This record gives sequence, structure tokens and C-alpha cells, in this order.
Amino acid sequence: MQRSRRGQVDPFIVMDVMEEARALEAAGRHIIHMEVGQPGTPAPLAARAAVAAALEQPLGYTVALGLPELRRGIAALYSRWYGVDLNPDRVIVTSGSSSAFLLAFSALFDAGDRVGLGEPGYPSYRQILRALSLTPVGIPTREENRLQPVPADLEGVDLKGLIVASPGNPSGTMLSREALRALMDHAAGRRISFVSDEIYHGLHYGDRAVSALEISDEAYVINSFSKYFSMTGWRLGWMVVPEDHIRTCERLAQNMFICPPHVSQVAALAALDCVDELEANRAVYAENRRLMLEALPKAGFHRIAPPDGAFYIYADVSDLTSDSLQLARDILHGAGVAVTPGLDFDPVRGRTTLRFSYARATSDIAEGLERLRQFMTGR
Ligand SMILES: Cc1ncc(COP(=O)(O)O)c(C=O)c1O
Repeated sequence: MQRSRRGQVDPFIVMDVMEEARALEAAGRHIIHMEVGQPGTPAPLAARAAVAAALEQPLGYTVALGLPELRRGIAALYSRWYGVDLNPDRVIVTSGSSSAFLLAFSALFDAGDRVGLGEPGYPSYRQILRALSLTPVGIPTREENRLQPVPADLEGVDLKGLIVASPGNPSGTMLSREALRALMDHAAGRRISFVSDEIYHGLHYGDRAVSALEISDEAYVINSFSKYFSMTGWRLGWMVVPEDHIRTCERLAQNMFICPPHVSQVAALAALDCVDELEANRAVYAENRRLMLEALPKAGFHRIAPPDGAFYIYADVSDLTSDSLQLARDILHGAGVAVTPGLDFDPVRGRTTLRFSYARATSDIAEGLERLRQFMTGR
């Protein structure tokens, strides 16, 4: 049978690394996972208890935009985190932020439209855009701009949309309020639709991240229960859209997904209140980050972007290799540590970068760092 051209997207290399690590584990090797971007902790206790209590109910379809009480709970989070008064009608519950991207890109753009994304950046933006017959436009970012796009990078670039992430993946760097405002003002002035991926909000180690909603209502803001709420496998996220876009998104969501998973919505509603447990997770990441920043340079990884949030460290390894895929393989097989080659995040400069995730238990991180030090010194 014929295959579409738009369906020929690139693989997500980190998933291939995970598979290679799994095969080694199946063969009896012990692997430390610094490749995956997911917490090692389960969903918060009260979320699991709420699910246990709900299992006797039918748990059928919900309304397409999500349970009203969950949408109200998410709106209340904006008041708690940012002091923003948000109309719950603008909250659209989705199956992870991944399906929020599908909805957002379908609602905002027509086939062929050009959508900008900072490089390095989360790889699936590019692939989802391509699968929707849209044109991803990579915007190379600079170290002096903390690997985030700035308005000058967009001058003369024809765009219908722009997607940014702060804190970003892989860099963990954040846009300051002024930097975010400058980008949003630039986009508004050129009628470029602004999409803000805020999936790592809640995970900061100094100042908190600024939401696009603190600056303007004219943006699509995407978030998820995957990271801060430690619920990757529950596949639940959300999107906040301008009031005059709600109905368009609702019609798309009804047809594309019917509704987000009911059981996960029950869990998410309870998770919103689990502040102490989630803050304890964040304290673990903070300690892991401290260990990483101390030990990575000792293992030969000196050139790292200062990570403000998320749970990643992005390292420039151009002094060590011009083939990050091979270096990641060597580290996996030689040190028993899985790391991600930068190619996922930056198709050009990613040949000379690696991403280290520190989302796991501190004992794992300490062991991984010691293995890295031994392997890199013996190399
Ligand atoms: C920046 C960013 N956005 C979105 C996602 C997708 O997350 P999910 O679909 O689990 O919400 C990820 C996953 O790692 C990510 O790093």
C-alpha cells in the first residue's frame, strides 16, 4: 500500500536509546537511566487512592473538553501559581500535552503554514507539524540567549506561528519575563500565533517560570500532568486557549479524541492538591541537579547550559566528539549509563551535544555520575 509523504517523520532517538538500554537490561546488565525525561516516582498517593475509589464506577466517556471540576481545578492552579484569574471554560483537558499540540496546530494553522521552533528544542513539535502538512522552521538559538529564541532571530523569517518552551527541553533554561514579553510582543505585531509549552512549570530551582498567560490572553498555553505531577503514563495534559478559540478546539477534540481518559482525569483532579508530595519530589531533583553540576565537569563535560528548571542538563561535547550518537552508544555499553544524543533536539548542532536527565532517585544519579567519571577518564 502507498504511504504518505507527511507520515515519514523522523524517529524519536531517545526512544531508540531506551530500547537499546532495555535490551542490555534483558541480557543482565544494570543500566542507570539518564536518558528518559520522566520522574521515577509514581503518581501522588491521593491520586492513586482516588482512582482506586473510582474503579467501581462506569468510567465512560466524559465531555470532550474534560470534567468540569478538573477544568475548574486547573484554572485555580493559575491563581495559585501565577496570580492569574482564569475562566475555566478556556481550559481544555487533553491526552497529555502531545495531543494538545495536535489540537493546537490543527486549530491554528492551515496546510503549508510555517511554524517556528527554537533549536535545540523538543523534537516532536517538528514531527507533529510535518505529519499535519505544516512546515517546521528551525530557529537556531545562541548560548548568550540561554538557548532560547529572541525577536532578532525572527527578523525576516516568514512565520504563521511560533512555539517556545520555558523551561526548555533539552536545555532546562527559562525565558525571563522580559524575554517572554519581547517574543510575545514581536509575535503579536506580526500576527504570528504564539504557542507556549509550559510542561516543566513547577520544576524550577531559583525563580519560578513565567506563564504566557501573565503577559497576554492571546496565546495557546500547553501544560501537562506528566512532569511536575509525576504522571507521564496517565497521559493527561491541558491547554488554555483564547475565548474565541474554545469552540473550534472543542469540535476538533470531539472528533479526534472523544475525550481524554476518564480514569486519568479522576487521578489528576486529586493530584492538584498533593502539594507536599510534589514539592518533596522537586527537592530531590534540586539535590540531583546540584550533584550533576558538581560531578559532570569532573567527568569531562565542562560546557553545560545553566539549567533553571526541568530535569535536564544539555552539554556541548564538541571537544569530545563530532558523533554524539556514537558517544552515547559508547557510554551506554562502556559505562552502563543511558544518555540522549543531541540529534533529537537539534538536527545540525546535535552531533556535538548530549542531554543528561536527572529525574531519577538521587542514589541512581550518584551512581551514574561515578560510572561516567570512571568511563570518561579511562577513555
Ligand atoms: C517540552 C516537552 N513538551 C511536551 C512533552 C510531551 O509530554 P506529554 O505528552 O507526556 O505531556 C515533553 C515530553 O518529554 C516535553 O519535553
